[in-house]
Amino acid sequence: MTHKPTVLAVESSCDETAVAIYHPEQGILANEVFSQIPLHREHGGVVPELAARDHMRRLPILLDEALTSAKRQLSDIDVIAYTAGPGLLGALMTGAAFARSLAFSLNKPALGIHHMEGHLLSPMLGDEQPEYPFVALLVSGGHTQLMAVNAPGDYQMLGQTLDDAVGEAFDKTAKLMGLLYPGGPELAKLAEDGDPQSFKLSRPMVNRPGMDMSFSGLKTQVRLLIESSENSEAQARANIAASFQQTIADTLVIKCQRAWAHTGYRDLVVAGGVSANQTLRQALEDSAQKHNKRVFFPPKALCTDNALMIAYVGALRAQQAGTHDLNIDARARWPLSDIAAI
Ligand code: KG4
Ligand code: ZN
Repeated sequence: MTHKPTVLAVESSCDETAVAIYHPEQGILANEVFSQIPLHREHGGVVPELAARDHMRRLPILLDEALTSAKRQLSDIDVIAYTAGPGLLGALMTGAAFARSLAFSLNKPALGIHHMEGHLLSPMLGDEQPEYPFVALLVSGGHTQLMAVNAPGDYQMLGQTLDDAVGEAFDKTAKLMGLLYPGGPELAKLAEDGDPQSFKLSRPMVNRPGMDMSFSGLKTQVRLLIESSENSEAQARANIAASFQQTIADTLVIKCQRAWAHTGYRDLVVAGGVSANQTLRQALEDSAQKHNKRVFFPPKALCTDNALMIAYVGALRAQQAGTHDLNIDARARWPLSDIAAI
């Protein structure tokens, strides 16, 4: 592709429907996100069938809105990118079918993009960008991974959770505490009034070498605290939330320090829904400063699911020779380290 492409992207892997338009030089042209949270809230979690049906309803509306706010016509679009996986298969299929048929009708290439690669590179859309190579901590509802990012498309897994993802641990613990879905931000809000040092929770796997993690045991520790009649008052609940959150942050800091030491890289990127967490941000910033490293987060609005990060990766791929039209369908499971093998 000789000129820089205008990329339209579609994201529908979970409970956000999103359409964005991005150009490598003109920057962000549109970023439309519709959250399905109110739809799933009464069920206490995401209902895959409802998610897929609502994506189908919203995508054409969001497409119109994105074109209007970008002041672009469909004929201005050079490439269509879409989230091909990982995620809920039915939800992915609606976005993939929508994007591929749009591309077919416009006679333009359609690129299937890895959702976590979108998260991983989302800090590139911020005011200050990290320099390759760097370490990435991906913390979302479905994934918790430490990666060595050697170059765009060259990702090496350093460590991952052996059980719950960090976002999942937040969500499950919040549910135990009777908070609304999605529990991560609700638990963080409750923790604001709590003392993070009030309960000593054990930090999982920090005494073992390596960069793998485990978070399901923390949930059990919290359950025992909540069930104790001594902790029924509001202040005790806030203290439990704050202690849980601090333990997660401390554990992730230790794992990131190991990744810094292992790779020798200077920059750390933190992305995925949990990167919106203020306590985690502060803990990693403090650690980076102490060790003469740098840490980068996506802009707050791009921490959770959006199509802009997919458009960014789409633009990158489109400009790489020989990858014009990848014939990818939706994939519920797709390790990020396999991306170079496509
Ligand atoms: O990346 P994301 O939007 O979706 C997935 O790809 O999974 O991440 C959603 C996750 C949920 O588990 C949500 O509870 C968590 O991110 N999350 C937070 C915060 N904001 C979102 N967890 C802790 N603190 C937050 N402020
Ligand atoms: Zn995500």
